[in-house]
Amino acid sequence: VSIEKFIENIPKTELHLHIEGTFEPELMFEIAKRNQKKIPFNSVAELKSAYKFNNLQEFLDIYYAGANVLIKEQDFYDLTWAYLTKVHEQNVVHVEIFFDPQTHTDRGVSFDTVIKGIHSALEDGKERLGITYKLIMSFLRHLDEASAFKTLEQSLPYKDWISGVGLDSSEVGNPPSKFEEVFKKSRKEGFLTVAHAGEEGPATYIWEALELLQVTRIDHGNRCLEDNKLVKQLASSQMPLTLCPLSNLELKVVSNLKEHPIVKMMAENLLVTVNSDDPAYFGGYMNENYIGIANALDLSKEQIAELVKNSFIASWLPKQEKEKRI
Ligand code: ADE
Ligand code: ZN
Repeated sequence: VSIEKFIENIPKTELHLHIEGTFEPELMFEIAKRNQKKIPFNSVAELKSAYKFNNLQEFLDIYYAGANVLIKEQDFYDLTWAYLTKVHEQNVVHVEIFFDPQTHTDRGVSFDTVIKGIHSALEDGKERLGITYKLIMSFLRHLDEASAFKTLEQSLPYKDWISGVGLDSSEVGNPPSKFEEVFKKSRKEGFLTVAHAGEEGPATYIWEALELLQVTRIDHGNRCLEDNKLVKQLASSQMPLTLCPLSNLELKVVSNLKEHPIVKMMAENLLVTVNSDDPAYFGGYMNENYIGIANALDLSKEQIAELVKNSFIASWLPKQEKEKRI
């Protein structure tokens, strides 16, 4: 079979996905209309033409604006359900997804509304599509630590629905050290931790995520390659990196997929995984990300299979579940 068919057919898991980043323009217009919210674009085509980014911040500005039309529990359900049906068609069997509570609570939408909608779609996805899941609550790093603490408080009644906490949004100038205390409290409450680090920010942010936040995975981590000692540390500990090739291309973290560091990282024995990040904005879900790097970097089926296996290893599935699926 062709490499494309091989990628499409192999059962996959996704570990770095922002549910707000799956908001397709068609659904955005539909939900805006029923909530009588205005979008500053006249059509789906006009909105899509605004998806041209020079850096992370230009993307985030549009991503937060899009999320503004999400108001009701049903909106969060529909958003999550659309993602699940989409990745089901792509043979994704397990997902560990982020949501950004503060993007919604700061607009007056309650934490309950957001999590109930997302959780019920995830439960339906498990039952009807056979997709298992973990949910990760991500703190916005451009806001202060007090706001993250407040969010942590709000999440406690829903602790059983949330497996971990993460850290996302504008990276440069907002190092992991800013959130050391709230991550400490989160771990005490039983949450696993991850953090975006080394996407635009320096390798020192990756060190901080490891040492101060005690993460179980690094989201992105591209810039680890600037620090040999860090590469050695990540390799020897088999610390997973959740890479997002099309995101890196669209946010100009790499100038061309042929320059994507994934092969170099595999050669360094790093535990790298392929993910979509914000597929509605970056032009592709899981299969498109795998196919993009496979073609640009001339990857073999064995290399693809290894990447897929890495994702199951890096997942938070219990050990026996992992072994069944590898
Ligand atoms: N929020 C959504 N996508 C993100 C990314 N790639 N980096 C940081 N924050 C994000
Ligand atoms: Zn991300």
